[in-house]
Amino acid sequence: MLFPLVALLSLCDAALLRANSPQPVVVRLRRDHLQHHRHGITMSASSGLGARGTVCSPRQMRQLEQHQARLRHPALLQRSATSAFGESEVGVLRLQDLSSSEYAGLLGVGTRANCTGRCPAAQLRVIYDTGSADLWVNSDLCTYGPCSMDDRHRFNRSSSKTYEQANKPEGFQTEYASGSITGVLGTDDVWLGPVVVKQQTLGLISQEYGEAFTWMPIDGIVGLGFRDLAVKTRPLLDTLEEQALPHPEFAFFLHPDFTKGGALLWGKTEHLRLHQGPMRWFPVAEEKFWSISLLGFRLGLHSVQDLLPLLLPYVKRPSDGPLSQLPEDSPSRRPPDALAVLDSGTTFFTAPPRLFNEISRAVGPRSCDSIAGFPEFVFTVGTNLSNRSQTYDLVVPPQMYMTRDYGTERCVPGVMSMGQGYQEKPFMILGEVFMRHYFSIYQRGSEGSSRVGLAPARLGAAAERILQ
Ligand SMILES: *[C@@H]1O[C@H](CO)[C@@H](O)[C@H](O)[C@H]1NC(C)=O
Ligand SMILES: *[C@@H]1O[C@H](CO)[C@@H](O)[C@H](O)[C@H]1NC(C)=O
Ligand SMILES: *[C@@H]1O[C@H](CO)[C@@H](O)[C@H](O)[C@H]1NC(C)=O
Ligand SMILES: *[C@@H]1O[C@H](CO)[C@@H](O)[C@H](O)[C@H]1NC(C)=O
Repeated sequence: MLFPLVALLSLCDAALLRANSPQPVVVRLRRDHLQHHRHGITMSASSGLGARGTVCSPRQMRQLEQHQARLRHPALLQRSATSAFGESEVGVLRLQDLSSSEYAGLLGVGTRANCTGRCPAAQLRVIYDTGSADLWVNSDLCTYGPCSMDDRHRFNRSSSKTYEQANKPEGFQTEYASGSITGVLGTDDVWLGPVVVKQQTLGLISQEYGEAFTWMPIDGIVGLGFRDLAVKTRPLLDTLEEQALPHPEFAFFLHPDFTKGGALLWGKTEHLRLHQGPMRWFPVAEEKFWSISLLGFRLGLHSVQDLLPLLLPYVKRPSDGPLSQLPEDSPSRRPPDALAVLDSGTTFFTAPPRLFNEISRAVGPRSCDSIAGFPEFVFTVGTNLSNRSQTYDLVVPPQMYMTRDYGTERCVPGVMSMGQGYQEKPFMILGEVFMRHYFSIYQRGSEGSSRVGLAPARLGAAAERILQ
């Protein structure tokens, strides 16, 4: 979906969050609802937390300027570690946290002239987004918006000997939850660490809109979703499958201490033991998002009340007077096809408005020392698409879903309200807050047989050693 936390912040707060990370920062989430669009879909989101942010004070402005100066040093470019991988090896692409909101890694684009080795024409800092399927990069075409900022890198078409463009360049536009992008389509090779993917369709950004893109210092977005999610470009996974990896498989390791960043790993990773306990495998319920079948949701391990019906919007009945209280829905009205979506582009968990309200009644901002009494989120998810009684309870304790608000040193629930919009099926997103605690594997199979693997992440020095 690409819904970073910064999309919910006031301009100054978002900028400061980015500037000061990892130092403590005043974070104030906006209370008002945001309208946002994606693929022509309008959804409404609100965090329901905290107070509206204020304008920047002179001190904050100074901090921002210092930060701008720091960013011109592309430290990330040197920090990226990769290792070659073949059939049995793993390619590690280090990700850098952008202010606890998104994780960015490098992407090489194009091939420099007079060079035959590994020599991408541009090294860009991109978000690897499992919640979209198009590949966009800043380019020399950029005329308007954040893509033209000083701290951004751009791919210049004339610096690549492998760049191809149709005689009549095809334009296109897409909407993310947090902004929109306009550009034209081209084709060039891209470098994912050691692997080169030939003739990948690229969206070359010419104009970019949206506060989130302003405050996140990124040069592009690499969608890792399925073909049905792509607007116009051929998804990277399809190109990869054809050329480099017969069954593309990747995994995300996001460190719970976000200042330590994370890694996107290509290849088979289950044996690396970046997780604890057995890896649980779930069939992808709909090959569009990386989604698994959501068959129940409870607040508390011992609760018997299944809140899944609250994923559906309330339907007004003819007997409802204009002022009548909303009656309870009949428990039999349940979404038969709800989804839990693994989305590396969204910071928080999301719940549709009615469920979000119910969650907000049970959990709210509180001192981080006293969150243990909050109920667990229990997602009952399907393990076998042809037998709905085969399920697994994915348990998320408060220590995982509560996030620290550095301004107040209190903990706030990492949950955001997001309606169904025009998506066909009701869904909840498991975003980065979830992925910081669960190691997740994305295994693309032949049509209809893709799987997601989830297990609690292994933390600390052991995990660090594996990623070195
Ligand atoms: C590339 O090589 C050609 C032929 O060797 C040479 O004429 C040209 O100046 C080189 N270009 C660059 C950018 O080095
Ligand atoms: C792209 O590269 C060409 C050739 O080096 C150069 O003339 C042009 O100014 C560059 N364009 C931008 C926007 O940097
Ligand atoms: C579905 O799975 C349940 C639990 O494993 C099992 O008891 C039941 O027989 C299965 N149903 C079918 C139709 O195979
Ligand atoms: C899924 O359930 C069906 C029907 O119960 C069963 O035939 C099949 O073996 C199950 N698949 C797996 C992988 O357990």
